[in-house]
Amino acid sequence: MKNGRVPTGIYGLDDLMDGGFRENTINIVYGGTGVGKTTFGLQFSLFGLDRGEKVLYVSFEMSEQQIIRDCIDMGWKVIKDYIDEGNLKIIHIFGEDLTFPSLDIAEMIKKPFSGNNHRIVIDPFTYPTFYSDKEKRKSLSIIFQELRKLGTSVIMLEELANGTSGCGMGSIEAPYLNVPSMPLYLSDTVIFLQNLGFGEMYDRTLRIMKHRGSKHGEGLYSYSIETGLGIVVRASEKQVERVKPKIKYDNQFKEALSKAKAMGVLGEKLSQRIDKLRKNWIHDEDPSEILKLILKEGYQ
Ligand SMILES: Nc1ncnc2c1ncn2[C@@H]1O[C@H](COP(=O)(O)OP(=O)(O)OP(=O)(O)O)[C@@H](O)[C@H]1O
Ligand SMILES: [Mg+2]
Repeated sequence: MKNGRVPTGIYGLDDLMDGGFRENTINIVYGGTGVGKTTFGLQFSLFGLDRGEKVLYVSFEMSEQQIIRDCIDMGWKVIKDYIDEGNLKIIHIFGEDLTFPSLDIAEMIKKPFSGNNHRIVIDPFTYPTFYSDKEKRKSLSIIFQELRKLGTSVIMLEELANGTSGCGMGSIEAPYLNVPSMPLYLSDTVIFLQNLGFGEMYDRTLRIMKHRGSKHGEGLYSYSIETGLGIVVRASEKQVERVKPKIKYDNQFKEALSKAKAMGVLGEKLSQRIDKLRKNWIHDEDPSEILKLILKEGYQ
């Protein structure tokens, strides 16, 4: 774990996400059927397990046996060892057993491990149950609060199959805008997976819809699912380059910093901002105009 980041373990994705998820956050992977949500969850789990971390996998669909079988097909039979060693706990919950979202879940997830830095996967949270009911929303917040205490969670969310699916951004924006009870706003990161389904090489696309407190790639990236590896995001070098801070404008930043520092108390505050901007300047564009605006503030 570096700089409070939890790598997703998805090939090619962490470079686009400032290193990965932030620690102790709720992260949503959203998409229609067959896009690779479960693969994402298992890959995220394995990345941690391979490094000695503990993983809690809450499955609302597949039993432990089904998960093991899929992993073996993927080339991940090591998963059995992790279960035997006790580092991977799979909890299979039958939806009918719960009046969902229920606080029982908060209790269940608390039980298996002590500590606060586990990887947690919930696959999938069932989508339509979320809206309208205020009480449900409240219990959802409580569950999320518990999850944040336990570690870093990835929650799979199924895209609605009501005709809005397949039209890309629209399908996520509509509920996002119209139905505020959607848990998207409770989450720190949202990743949207889509499969156009023409059977072409670049049919599968990934978009990072939001990633709180982080700079991240804003493109539409193609990905594939490879036996042995799992999800591989195929961002081009140019796309990855766009997310990296540019040091070529350091002189402009340094000059602005020395001007700010000469401004006294307010200047000290402005230089903190300028320095943060310097470390995160990912544009190819010269920052001089923006720096002028910041310094202008110092004269007001
Ligand atoms: N062993 C494998 N090797 C390569 N690709 C695989 C393998 N297993 C699954 N896939 C690909 O992944 C797709 C399904 O992935 P996954 O089960 O992760 O999707 P999902 O979004 O969880 O779907 P669901 O709606 O069933 O939950 C399959 O349709 C197939 O294209
Ligand atoms: Mg699945």
